[in-house]
Amino acid sequence: MSLINRIEAALEQHFSRTLSSSAPPRLMEAMRHAVFPGGARIRPQLCMAVAKACGEDDSGLTDAAAVAIELLHCASLVHDDMPCFDDADLRRGRITVHKQFGEPLALLTGDALIIMAYQTLAHSGRLHPMRTVQLLSVISDGVGAPDGIVAGQAWECESRVELGQYQRAKTGALFVAATCAGALAAGVDPAPWRKLGETLGEAYQVADDIRDVMMQADQLGKPAGQDAHHGRPSAAADLGLVGALDYFNALMQTAVDSVPACESRAAMRQLVLSESERLVPPDACELISRQKVSAPGRVSA
Ligand code: IPE
Ligand code: IPE
Ligand code: MG
Ligand code: MG
Repeated sequence: MSLINRIEAALEQHFSRTLSSSAPPRLMEAMRHAVFPGGARIRPQLCMAVAKACGEDDSGLTDAAAVAIELLHCASLVHDDMPCFDDADLRRGRITVHKQFGEPLALLTGDALIIMAYQTLAHSGRLHPMRTVQLLSVISDGVGAPDGIVAGQAWECESRVELGQYQRAKTGALFVAATCAGALAAGVDPAPWRKLGETLGEAYQVADDIRDVMMQADQLGKPAGQDAHHGRPSAAADLGLVGALDYFNALMQTAVDSVPACESRAAMRQLVLSESERLVPPDACELISRQKVSAPGRVSA
């Protein structure tokens, strides 16, 4: 089964198991809206790919870790889109949760998805309690304070923030959680997989900053030009598009080089390379290198 089919099936299975018909119907509907249909599902696929590369022996535990990571990511998007953060009306090409269901239910949807992530791990961790405790720890580090998503979002409330620290927290940390959780679910030391998560995660946010400047809402499935609009720290604004693309390419090369020795090293490296092309497509690279765009404005071709 492909990784994308595997994560969709695991999400569906844990969703149906956790949410019974006794739950308030609009909350259940809002939670489904936040998770299905998904986006790239890159974090859970990364987690599963690392687990396989590490000789996975408890696929249920890997699935639970991957599901937990995707649920936490979806929760962060629901909260991030709310009026008190980015005030966005479009996500994954659809109306955002607070626009469809109202702010109180959006807040509760994010909260409930966070809790469901931990319910999922608690349910599937019985065979390997020690691994599960380590998973709880590494995944929590990816989303909480001092260095996870919550910290990243909180840097937006400070008057000064260093771009790298902001991006590593708001995006990089959950990628670190994804690679390390893959190794831990397989019962393997996660340390060699940390750097892949760090570099891929930071590259991912740099690419998101470039795309925010260069693409339109219908291509992104979410509003464009948001970083300039909200005055957010952005690689495109700080480094210019040419500098941001150079930085992205350097991070992706480091990510490729940091795949540890394992049987599926070649396949893992290929996965990272194909992500690179998806994140900043060749035509965008060409536009930037021909200097047809200038940050933080819009495409001037
Ligand atoms: C969006 O993440 C938020 C960022 C960190 C850039 P994704 O680009 O992975 O969003 P989906 O899950 O594919 O919609
Ligand atoms: C998103 O940052 C990362 C989160 C912690 C949710 P952004 O605000 O840049 O992501 P998008 O552009 O809304 O997906
Ligand atoms: Mg944001
Ligand atoms: Mg946002």
